[in-house]
Amino acid sequence: MKVAIIGSGTMGSGIAQVAATAGCTVKLYDTKTEALEKAKQALEKILSRLIEKGRIDDKEKNRIQSNITYVARLKALADADLTIEAIVENLEVKQKVFQEIESYQSDEAIIASNTSSLSIASIASALEKPERCIGVHFFNPAPLMPLVEIVPAVQTSQQVFDKVFSTIESWKKVPVKAKDTPGFIVNRVARPFYGEALRIYEESFAGLPEGEAGFATIDWAMKEFGGFKMGPFQLMDFIGNDVNYTVTETVFEAFYYDPRYKPSFTQKRFAEAGYLGRKSGKGFYDYSETAIKVAP
Ligand code: NAI
Repeated sequence: MKVAIIGSGTMGSGIAQVAATAGCTVKLYDTKTEALEKAKQALEKILSRLIEKGRIDDKEKNRIQSNITYVARLKALADADLTIEAIVENLEVKQKVFQEIESYQSDEAIIASNTSSLSIASIASALEKPERCIGVHFFNPAPLMPLVEIVPAVQTSQQVFDKVFSTIESWKKVPVKAKDTPGFIVNRVARPFYGEALRIYEESFAGLPEGEAGFATIDWAMKEFGGFKMGPFQLMDFIGNDVNYTVTETVFEAFYYDPRYKPSFTQKRFAEAGYLGRKSGKGFYDYSETAIKVAP
């Protein structure tokens, strides 16, 4: 199967690795050549680490790498059977890219979005053949997380759904059908996890100027006693405070401003300041090499 990925950031590069490992030929496209170069180097590092751990050999590394071509023109994706878009979480930008890619591809080609929170129906509505559009929502990091939400829009054909569902299974992932509602399953359930953690952190009472509990304390408690692998602040830093904030904002608007999903000013300011988390070297925690460890 010929797979095309639009956007070679955190998710696009991970999805490309998954598809290439499953034996698909993959074209990975980004508007920024630096992003393509970064994705290429990241894959080299990941696969070398897997060799060190004895999980794959040189031959397998070469096979995966040779399945991926890095391209700087959208038109180069014209022959793909399945395109998965993983660009910025913005409806207008996604719709524009979907329209352009549709103009290059055959009528049978499937065009999917990895959006975390936008309506698949609204993305699909930009297409001449909206029945070919579907949500394919991977989790971060895509090569490690088994779950993939498959989200048919009201316009999506059954044939497209079946094809995508079985393709994702053949990529050794666990697909689950989700409704085209804001945040689908996991991101909707997770909103209060981040939102309430941020609210606890932001609330201050007399004599407690920095909020009732610091973020590291909240993370520690959730991991130690809540059984979570990562605390909410570690997870927001991992996902990216910009991405996480935008998803919350979209879900909040989509639920007619239900206060349950109200975004946090703290996270907004962090995103504006470039405190994005791991990817920028600083978020709630400091990821620089000289960072001082934050005590719980
Ligand atoms: P990212 O910021 O790491 O990567 C986005 C990439 O898209 C960048 O390399 C950028 O240069 C490129 N790009 C932007 N506009 C473009 C365009 N018009 N054409 C081609 N490339 C373009 O973002 P990330 O985190 O990979 O997210 C991508 C999508 O995946 C978003 O819709 C996000 O909501 C979703 N998502 C993110 C998850 C996460 O944990 N970060 C998890 C699951 C879904």
